[in-house]
Amino acid sequence: MLSTCFIHLKTQPLWIIILSLLGFLSIVKNTIFLLKWIFIKIFRKPKNLKNYGSWALITGSTDGIGKAFAFQLAKKGLNLILVSRNLSKLKNVSSEIRAKYPNTLTKIFGIEFSGPNISARIIEMKEDIKGLDVGVLINNVGVTYPSAMFFHEVDEEIWMNLVRVNVGGTSLITRGIIEEMVARKKGAIVNIGSGASIVVPSHPLYAIYAATKAYIDQLSRCLYVEYKHYGIDVQCQVPLYVSTKMASTVAFVEKPSIFIPSAGKYVESAIESIGYEARCTPYWGHSIQWWFASLLPSAVLDAWRLSTGIHRRVA
Ligand SMILES: NC(=O)c1ccc[n+]([C@@H]2O[C@H](COP(=O)([O-])OP(=O)(O)OC[C@H]3O[C@@H](n4cnc5c(N)ncnc54)[C@H](OP(=O)(O)O)[C@@H]3O)[C@@H](O)[C@H]2O)c1
Ligand SMILES: *[C@@H]1O[C@H](CO)[C@@H](O)[C@H](O)[C@H]1NC(C)=O
Ligand SMILES: *[C@@H]1O[C@H](CO)[C@@H](O)[C@H](O)[C@H]1NC(C)=O
Ligand SMILES: *[C@@H]1O[C@H](CO)[C@@H](O)[C@H](O)[C@H]1NC(C)=O
Repeated sequence: MLSTCFIHLKTQPLWIIILSLLGFLSIVKNTIFLLKWIFIKIFRKPKNLKNYGSWALITGSTDGIGKAFAFQLAKKGLNLILVSRNLSKLKNVSSEIRAKYPNTLTKIFGIEFSGPNISARIIEMKEDIKGLDVGVLINNVGVTYPSAMFFHEVDEEIWMNLVRVNVGGTSLITRGIIEEMVARKKGAIVNIGSGASIVVPSHPLYAIYAATKAYIDQLSRCLYVEYKHYGIDVQCQVPLYVSTKMASTVAFVEKPSIFIPSAGKYVESAIESIGYEARCTPYWGHSIQWWFASLLPSAVLDAWRLSTGIHRRVA
């Protein structure tokens, strides 16, 4: 069958041969992509996170995705350093975790990432956690606008806070933790990016948020390359919508659905991805949305995001 096909093809004009070849290559490429995706989502074994060290540090751990990370890393047998701004919420999360996982050790540390003196606070934190082998770092803390806004409508106060938390928080915490990982020659760092800067070509009316997430993406990729031979696995995870307080504020998401997982569901797949690719979309429903987005022309996605943004602004 194949040989008659080849004989038939040989008699065709050159342009048909070239087109057929391109079509064939595209099928091969997409098949490999699909097989790899199925392997990763179903068959690949998650890493044993305890091999990185016995403690995990999670920022923004009092709600949403960060809180789910805290519970599920405790379940994996890691001790936890919980970092967030609200001490009473931190105490509550910590005691909920210890009630559920009595063998887990926890430490809490309050940092207001939009505050004036994050660096000084992080130096204090390093003193406080001295001697603990922090093997896993989850840079999860992140904020966005209170609602969709044109760039010129965003108060300087709001966007400076956003940059302090999203860019400053992630960079400074990483800077504070990575040296010890280098010394021990092992570690896993997960930075939470966003589909806003990667899956869609633009995220109008949330420009500064999307731009901070593009920073996270590129920082992660460079650190992945810089620190690979120090045994440190840096990764940018790219969630699309996850049903949390943030998604409720910006997108009026009030309950999970198949394409908008709960924080717990998202984190189940997030934990299985730690230590592998430089950039990934852990949740399967998110990867399917990403794949569909990749089929559409950028101009269509831009127009769609712009109309969504404007709709949310007046809503
Ligand atoms: N949810 C989504 O649809 C979605 C999609 C893509 C990416 N992401 C990213 O995922 C990450 C987590 O989002 P989420 O939806 O879980 O958010 P969330 O439910 O709003 O939780 C954010 C966490 O960060 C803490 N936090 C906020 N501002 C802080 C500050 N200035 N200083 C210290 N801690 C602060 C919060 O503390 P309090 O409890 O005190 O507020 C809370 O624990 C973010 O980086 C976000 O950009 C989320
Ligand atoms: C901490 O969170 C609780 C519950 O959301 C809130 O009542 C309290 O005012 C917060 N404390 C601070 C210092 O922000
Ligand atoms: C902490 O937990 C207590 C008891 O469960 C609850 O009454 C209180 O409101 C919680 N505080 C915060 C800040 O969530
Ligand atoms: C910021 O940190 C420095 C160094 O620790 C300290 O001298 C200064 O007082 C701090 N400023 C504020 C506003 O906390």
